[in-house]
Amino acid sequence: MTALTDMADLTLEDGIAVITIDNPPVNALSQGVRQGIKDGVEKCLADNAVKAIVLICAGRTFIAGADITEFGGAPKEPGLHETLDRMENADKPIVAAIHGTALGGGLETALCCHFRVCDSGARFGLPEVNLGLLPGAGGTQRLPRVVGAEKALQMMTSGVQIGAEEALATGLVEQIVDTDLRSGAVAFAHEVVASGQPLQRIRDRDDKLQSARGNPGLFDEFRKSIARKTRGFLAPEYNIRCIEAAVNLPFDEGIAVEQKLFMELMSGPQSRAQQYFFFAERQAAKIPDVPRDTPERPINKVGVIGAGTMGGGISMNMANVGIPVIIIETQQEALDRGLGIIRKNYENTAKKGRISADDVETRCGLITGSLDMQDLADCDLVIEAVYESLDLKKEIFTKLDGIVKAGAILASNTSALDINQIAAVTARPESVIGLHFFSPANVMKLLEIVRGDHTAKDVIKTSMSFAKRINKVAALVGVCPGFVGNRILFQRQAQAQQLIMEGALPHQVDKVLVDFGLPMGAFQMSDLAGLDIGWNKQASNGATIRDMLCEADRRGQKTGAGYYDYDENRTPSPSALVEKIILEFSAKDGIDRRVVSDQEILERCIYPMINEGAKILEEGIAIRASDIDVVWVYGYGWPLYRGGPMHYADSIGLDQIVATLRKYAEATGDATFEPAPLMVKLAEAGQGFSSL
Ligand code: 3HC
Repeated sequence: MTALTDMADLTLEDGIAVITIDNPPVNALSQGVRQGIKDGVEKCLADNAVKAIVLICAGRTFIAGADITEFGGAPKEPGLHETLDRMENADKPIVAAIHGTALGGGLETALCCHFRVCDSGARFGLPEVNLGLLPGAGGTQRLPRVVGAEKALQMMTSGVQIGAEEALATGLVEQIVDTDLRSGAVAFAHEVVASGQPLQRIRDRDDKLQSARGNPGLFDEFRKSIARKTRGFLAPEYNIRCIEAAVNLPFDEGIAVEQKLFMELMSGPQSRAQQYFFFAERQAAKIPDVPRDTPERPINKVGVIGAGTMGGGISMNMANVGIPVIIIETQQEALDRGLGIIRKNYENTAKKGRISADDVETRCGLITGSLDMQDLADCDLVIEAVYESLDLKKEIFTKLDGIVKAGAILASNTSALDINQIAAVTARPESVIGLHFFSPANVMKLLEIVRGDHTAKDVIKTSMSFAKRINKVAALVGVCPGFVGNRILFQRQAQAQQLIMEGALPHQVDKVLVDFGLPMGAFQMSDLAGLDIGWNKQASNGATIRDMLCEADRRGQKTGAGYYDYDENRTPSPSALVEKIILEFSAKDGIDRRVVSDQEILERCIYPMINEGAKILEEGIAIRASDIDVVWVYGYGWPLYRGGPMHYADSIGLDQIVATLRKYAEATGDATFEPAPLMVKLAEAGQGFSSL
């Protein structure tokens, strides 16, 4: 064995050279890997004893892409293009032996080999779009030449991976090896040498592009089909343009288009934000005082209290990954309704072809119901998901503590209440934690995990791992009203209310927020959630706009009217009645209404959120600024291409945020605009939240 670099080595057996990449954890294409491949190939080409080359990786995966940590730094030789050209133009066969995931630059490397074999678990994808990029090492031109333009469009605009069987069917791999991958790949290389077949360079092919050439409407139709999902993102469109170039231009001209668009994306703010978020998400899983090797409690059976919208959605998460769940209700009718809705949800998913009819039965079979809390006795984790009443939750936790086995974790799905007070009614406060799911709980990726004063480290570790197991992204937060997500949301909602009192109307505020990239505006969100959450009919006396609307039975989407009027498809339109109510309220408060600019709306809705985020950091409620961003991207649909509120603040400059907040503090006299000391300190030092 010869070491090529500290990340690659070379062995020669019976005429077949094997270059092995070893750059844990994911064999990213760091400088040492590129150098190793290039040197290894050159050595083999110069050695008459070498008849063919196998490129394989050690560890858990084939190359998972370019080394993202190198992005933004000075280029290090050799470049990826240079390395891959050396491979593709080699006059000896190169066989990629793929296991794990061949992603991004990793798949591009494989596409520059002359042949590809894989094991049955291998997966393939070009996920650059998720980093606000496009494949920049020829992948945009080569993948469509192998799998066709349609498939390439799907894969490159969504980052979706395909498995080994599909890779074989599309011709992306020549063979699935069902024995040891290395020996299978070496045997394949021997066959290639023996057959004397010519070396295939993907760049020279264009048979798979023919059907797209005959279908000029393909690209525009595809654009339309993904428009809603990709609103605001640049990268999907740039990926499409590259595939259009692959179809319509000679290979080298296509590569030139790829390079130009890649550089444009790489130097833009969207990709910066998306790369930042890639690491933010992974960072959120790391808890400084809870070491990786903290033991975990086994979770084999889960109980959920409440079969309402949240309880049902939460239960589906467990059933989706094969964990049995028991749902507790107080009334048979409510239980039946809840279980019925779960079944209907699964059946609808099956109708869309996302799961099979068998999956529906398996998952529904994992969810049972009961009216007796004693049936929770053998659960490892119980998640309470009843409505937001501290007294009710305390009552439930007192009972649970007496029923559920020792060592089991008791969790509350509260979105704002004090976990410490809930934990205090039990004899096991160390086993009590907040697991705050976001609605719809079976869809939204975020799990806000709330650590109480006495929550044990193994309970935190177990909850973080459990989140991953049920395909959620967890962010650990501390106790305060609304935790991280809703506490920040309250600020925005309060400003939105204030803005309509001063002169804006709900649809104007909402349009600004939606144009910014949020999935819905402040008032659309209120209408969706229901204006009567926390509203008391008996006590209501028209003191707020919300009271007036609820009193008029405009309680949101569910009653067909709220801040907006809704048609039978739930399409909102501005309401003349609501406008009248708002104008009357302004007049009653003696407010002289004025034209409020879109810029003011944006700044007054978003900057107080950032300010609240800074206070949350000061108080230690969130561990890092990037955790706040994870909460807002995954819990509230903050546009990923803006990285999250704290990254967005850094991208604008904290000095500017502080100055603008002070301007509004002075103009409105509202103390919530006073910038948090932490933010002032950072701004004065010319730093951002990322420096913390
Ligand atoms: N570069 C640098 N580090 C990477 C990396 C990459 N491409 N991919 C993963 N890592 C790091 C992660 O940050 C993490 O580090 P940490 O342990 O310090 O937090 C570690 O590797 C393990 O990653 P995950 O926690 O994500 O491990 P999983 O097993 O859950 O997932 C994976 C593995 C599917 C490979 C996932 O890491 C992934 O999707 N990686 C990114 C793949 C990608 O986007 N590739 C394209 C890169 S851009 C490119 O190739 C440009 C080219 O076209 C020129």
